[in-house]
Amino acid sequence: MLAPILSVIVPCYNERENVAPMVARLGAVLDGVPWEAIFVDDNSPDGTSEVAKSIATDNAQIRCIRRVGRRGLSSACIEGMLASSARFVAVIDGDLQHEEALLPVMLKVLQRGEADIVVGSRHVAGGEASTGFSAIRRKISDGGAQLARLFLPSPVADPMSGFFMLERTTVERLAPELTGRGFKILLDILLTAEPPLRVRELPYSFRPREAGESKLDTVVLVEFLTLLLDKASGGVLPMRFLSFATIGVFGLAIHLACLAMTIHELGFAGAQWLASVIAMTANFWLNNRITYSDVRLRGAALWQGLVLFYLVCGVGVAANVGIAGLLLRDGLANWGAAGAAGALLTVVWNFAVSATLVWR
Ligand code: GDD
Ligand code: MN
Repeated sequence: MLAPILSVIVPCYNERENVAPMVARLGAVLDGVPWEAIFVDDNSPDGTSEVAKSIATDNAQIRCIRRVGRRGLSSACIEGMLASSARFVAVIDGDLQHEEALLPVMLKVLQRGEADIVVGSRHVAGGEASTGFSAIRRKISDGGAQLARLFLPSPVADPMSGFFMLERTTVERLAPELTGRGFKILLDILLTAEPPLRVRELPYSFRPREAGESKLDTVVLVEFLTLLLDKASGGVLPMRFLSFATIGVFGLAIHLACLAMTIHELGFAGAQWLASVIAMTANFWLNNRITYSDVRLRGAALWQGLVLFYLVCGVGVAANVGIAGLLLRDGLANWGAAGAAGALLTVVWNFAVSATLVWR
């Protein structure tokens, strides 16, 4: 068997039914190309790795990395790409929503040196997004893409795509700088590369999922915003802080929404109390899932952590109100600036103290 020139990285979580069809499709479209597929599975409860490994026992083109105790689409893609020694690497979703027939075309473009990275795009002429997403998912995806475009060095129509190919050496070079969090590995790569990569987009139609279900949720959304913040700040602020602060903004939105919904029934003070408890609980849950996913609290420690978190945030609010009041009283700031200073102090306080007390 020839050494592969192309490694196709297939991130998977609970995709057991899609593994064999994926192998068959890759074999059909990559006929004549020495290729391999690397399935990267995060120890899916449905036994995706077992299926991939059983196929691999009599097919040398198939490999499987089984990661234990970790979750994450981006980091799975990075690990898969770094496990390759082929000249080119591609990433494709394991749920058959991407059009694998594009792979040989992508390879040609790279071999001719026409681009540094080739992206399967739903948003260039001939591409189609609506087929694979519900209307609401599409709105979120479009909004995210708009936001991401503001940060990109050159225009890319579909920066949210999870389907692309590039030279492995490019990934090896960028890997230490990649954020590796969340769903958006392509965006991570595009925002990290300096000088910017030459991008070629090829149209494809996003297919509906046939088996299994999507893993996109609030967690993914927060991680996306954290990624943008991390890149925008040049990586100087710790990821944990950015994640904590992003969740803080979510918390504020939750707080205001609760306030608006209950103020007529409960009056201002009552509504304010209820909104605070709900927002703090939501923040605690999100931080436990995202910011501190690696040291996540469970069981009894979870409840203990929640109570501590209420206390820490309570002091934070008192400090916020106090500082803002002082600045205002001494005429050092107008109410907007005083409020912002108080809020900033609260986030820093909440973050610093909960990092040492709650998630030790
Ligand atoms: N190893 C691993 N770990 N794989 C994961 C994880 C994880 O934590 N979460 C999701 N995956 C795998 C899924 O099994 C699937 O093969 C692929 O990553 C995409 O996940 P979906 O949950 O199906 O995402 P989607 O359909 O909402 O969106 C995908 O397609 C978009 C269109 O190209 C994502 O890949 C987006 O990034 C992409 O833009
Ligand atoms: Mn999908």
